Amino acid sequence: MTLEVHLDADDLARTLRADVLTGLTADPKWLPPKWFYDARGSELFERITELPEYYPTRSERQILTDRADSIARHTRARTLLELGSGYSTKTRLLLDALTTAGTLETYVPMDVSPTALQAATARISVDYPALRVHNVVGDLTRHLKHLPGGGARLVAFLGGTVGNLVPAERAAFLSDVRAVLEPGEHLLLGTDLVKSPTVVVPAYDDAAGVTADFNRNVLRVMNNSLGADFDPEGFAHVALWEPEQEWVEMRLRARWPMRVTIPGVDLVVDFKAGEEIRTEVSAKFRRDGVAAELSDAGFTVDHWWTDRDDLFGVSLARAV
Ligand code: AVJ
Repeated sequence: MTLEVHLDADDLARTLRADVLTGLTADPKWLPPKWFYDARGSELFERITELPEYYPTRSERQILTDRADSIARHTRARTLLELGSGYSTKTRLLLDALTTAGTLETYVPMDVSPTALQAATARISVDYPALRVHNVVGDLTRHLKHLPGGGARLVAFLGGTVGNLVPAERAAFLSDVRAVLEPGEHLLLGTDLVKSPTVVVPAYDDAAGVTADFNRNVLRVMNNSLGADFDPEGFAHVALWEPEQEWVEMRLRARWPMRVTIPGVDLVVDFKAGEEIRTEVSAKFRRDGVAAELSDAGFTVDHWWTDRDDLFGVSLARAV
């Protein structure tokens, strides 16, 4: 097992400082969702995937269970590159199918969280002794160019995480993925689908409060890394559906007026009662929209699969 680091603790700290300075001095205030995922945040996300209200993980798993063999036969991939791999739980479906097909040699997971990456692939190395595992710690919007080259590659970007990017970022990101691939190589893309807000909103505002805890974790990350004095309980968790953009937004809403000091960036931030920080957008997609975005980026969609309830879509796209 090898490890390649493009984002060490110093880079991470520097990027966090830049994001906090930009986002918390903006009006309205915002923070990028990647800062949820320290060790505690990664664990909270794993708990979210098991909640009754959070359907995306189960729906996508159903699709991959049914289609992994088709994916393996269609791509005959020798290298599986997984972006934002986290704990790699669904990856095993692809690893199994590609191993059975007899083509797979190398698995390259890339994630911002070294903790999740190491924990996941330590187990994978044990269970797939013949597989070469090459961990890449990196940011998917900045370090794609470092992914190893080589023909017959399959890039997997699962979970619907592409929805965390706003449309302009998504276009840039998909073009960057296309740019690292050669014609004929593949992208497997998971996208959560547009559906009734009565289904979407509870998935982001569960009864047990795990998502609220996950959302507030970004405040703890700033407390731990930047010496900030956020009171996480002073912020209410908000999840709301934006019908224009067809995305769900998570926000943290100050319950009362607060002054927060963030020594790591030399910043004092004032909150009015009710003032919000936008912490995540999670866009929902339609089949035609996904195909159009992929086509604009230089891909053609060879397969489109949904789960039995049409909640989630998986595209198998080919670089043209
Ligand atoms: C991991 C980005 C796909 O947007 O649904 C879960 C993160 N946020 N609950 C999503 C998340 C709130 C998740 N992704």
